[in-house]
Amino acid sequence: ERVSRKHIKCRADIDMLTVPLLRIYESLIPPKEEKEKQMQLLTSLEKLVVNEWPHAHLCLFGSCANSFGVSNSDVDVCLVLRDADIDKSEILLKLAEILQSANFQNVQALTRARVPIIKLKDPVTGVSCDICINNVLAVVNTKLLRDYAQIDVRLPQLAFIVKHWAKSRGVNETYQGTLSSYAYVLMCIHFLQHRDPPILPCLQEAKIVTYQQIVDNIECAYFDQVEKLKTFGSDNKESVARLVWGFFHYWAYCHDYANTVVSVRTKNTVSKRSKDWTRRIGKDRHLICIEDPFETSHDLGRVVDKYSIKVLREEFERAATILQAYPNPCEKLFEPF
Ligand code: GTP
Ligand code: MG
Repeated sequence: ERVSRKHIKCRADIDMLTVPLLRIYESLIPPKEEKEKQMQLLTSLEKLVVNEWPHAHLCLFGSCANSFGVSNSDVDVCLVLRDADIDKSEILLKLAEILQSANFQNVQALTRARVPIIKLKDPVTGVSCDICINNVLAVVNTKLLRDYAQIDVRLPQLAFIVKHWAKSRGVNETYQGTLSSYAYVLMCIHFLQHRDPPILPCLQEAKIVTYQQIVDNIECAYFDQVEKLKTFGSDNKESVARLVWGFFHYWAYCHDYANTVVSVRTKNTVSKRSKDWTRRIGKDRHLICIEDPFETSHDLGRVVDKYSIKVLREEFERAATILQAYPNPCEKLFEPF
């Protein structure tokens, strides 16, 4: 049985932790040259691709385009081909051959993965990159995350710190049953939407739709004029330190893992029952449920199993305890596991 610490009050001197936490945040922001290297790589890839498939183009997605990328992240690239019924494996194998001849390093085609990709390293810029095909939903959810990041700087600050914590503690490994970076960012957005007063709005629930696209039969629609929402969170004066504490405290002691789904799509509570995510079907156990904002049948927590849920929850508790009780928590919080 877990101890209920729902009503614990945050330490009185919590705001003092904002300076060291922001220092860590700033140290994680990639330098300008990195963006230039990524664009240089994209340009050289695009030349090769268009040479073979004249109507194709490349899009960046993931952390190099969603504004949640720390220094030295891999670049996620999507090859967009107009033709809908293509054999992705065949194209990937052809592309791998082209890339190899162009002297890219470590070129590997992973055609059997859930999302088939090519991995490679660019010897010129030293940047590593994954290329997938027609993953347009990922390009769209990348834009959604980028748009949220524009509204209140406390989102990127919180998310960088959470991602850094997750990588340091070894809980950002989907193949080991812990969560993806994408899932952690959605958890941060959800958390900030539910502060009182809220720090983030729910863009998909806005009355006016300014961005709309149908991708793979899924309607993606939301209010994307985020420059008009710059003051949305200004009634909430919580410091980053208080939010970091609140985030871990929420996941350690307050979240109802048994009954609720984390969703950034709506401010209403989404129940596991309403989605039929209450029992194990095949490999999907739904022990922590994080709904994809557009592909709403997709639970980003599906990778979590009965062992890794325990690891995750213990890590949330560890982080909450350290932030609550240690005199200098920052070093301890990010201590390698
Ligand atoms: P880092 O590479 O860790 O910096 O973060 P990232 O934001 O690039 O995350 P990641 O490499 O895990 O995922 C890349 C992108 O794939 C995400 O930003 C999403 O746009 C998209 N994506 C869509 N569905 C999923 C999913 O189920 N799992 C993951 N990991 N990514 C998804
Ligand atoms: Mg990535």
